[in-house]
Amino acid sequence: MIQTVLLNNNIRMPLLGIGTNNISDEKAVMTIVNSAVTAGCRMIDTASFYKNEEYVGAAIAKCQVPRRDLFVISKVWNTAQRLGDTAGAFARSLERLHLNYVDLYMIHWPVPGCFPTTWRELEKLYSSRVVRSIGVSNFDIRHLEALRKSSGIIPAVNQIECHPLNYNKDLVEYCQAQGIHVQACAPLAGGACLDEDIICVIATKYGRTPAQIALRWAIQKGFSVIPGSGNVDHIRADADIFGFSIEEEDMAILDTMNCGKRTIEVPEDLRDIPF
Ligand SMILES: NC(=O)c1ccc[n+]([C@@H]2O[C@H](COP(=O)([O-])OP(=O)(O)OC[C@H]3O[C@@H](n4cnc5c(N)ncnc54)[C@H](OP(=O)(O)O)[C@@H]3O)[C@@H](O)[C@H]2O)c1
Repeated sequence: MIQTVLLNNNIRMPLLGIGTNNISDEKAVMTIVNSAVTAGCRMIDTASFYKNEEYVGAAIAKCQVPRRDLFVISKVWNTAQRLGDTAGAFARSLERLHLNYVDLYMIHWPVPGCFPTTWRELEKLYSSRVVRSIGVSNFDIRHLEALRKSSGIIPAVNQIECHPLNYNKDLVEYCQAQGIHVQACAPLAGGACLDEDIICVIATKYGRTPAQIALRWAIQKGFSVIPGSGNVDHIRADADIFGFSIEEEDMAILDTMNCGKRTIEVPEDLRDIPF
């Protein structure tokens, strides 16, 4: 059974979801969403930038799980932020998804000079009840502090790259102290975690796969996870992380692996500006 977390606005969110980045082929999206739902997964992470919302929407319509039991995440991209078109971008996402609300709508990246205004637009969407919660992604402490000082609603979630090779303790502790749930995206470091000796040894000890160890590490840190996979067997195995625990001493060993390795590329339009 996939566990859930209560967000700071009293909305319950599953601790495991399926990521859909880099999957923009209709058949592939249908297969992965269907496999994830069959494995018990109820959370789906998409974004306008992934160019697959239409297919995610079609998969949701076909999956026979009542809408209220699913948790759908989407995000506003940088271009819409710069154009001051967050409301329009959200409306287009809803249309592509064939939904009348999303469960969590996020700012994908903190575009300098834009993200506080974008946040106010998200607050309006939240007030009009077309999103059940609002959050951010790739935000550092300084971005969160800027929001805290200038806005009324604290983000429910910060979706950031988090795995044993990249554990930003200061940011995680800041989020947890502020009641912002940390969602680990790219929780397998894009697959790079899986060949690490330490993870493989611990996986053997528990009779689990390296992916399950990396994902379970994140769950025990208090994060939710949204692994990506195009492989039906991997999707099934990745969902099976709630029936075992990693002992404290092994968690401590996994913690020693942090080397700040980042696999998520900063988007081109943000690369040459300090953000
Ligand atoms: N907010 C953001 O800016 C942001 C950025 C990046 C990602 N994300 C979100 O996070 C999600 C996941 O990120 P990601 O896909 O880039 O990285 P990831 O989940 O860390 O890693 C995906 C890789 O792991 C492999 N994998 C998964 N399960 C496996 C298993 N059990 N055994 C062996 N290999 C396994 C997959 O290969 P197979 O296909 O062979 O299974 C794939 O190559 C994205 O889909 C997206 O929703 C958000």
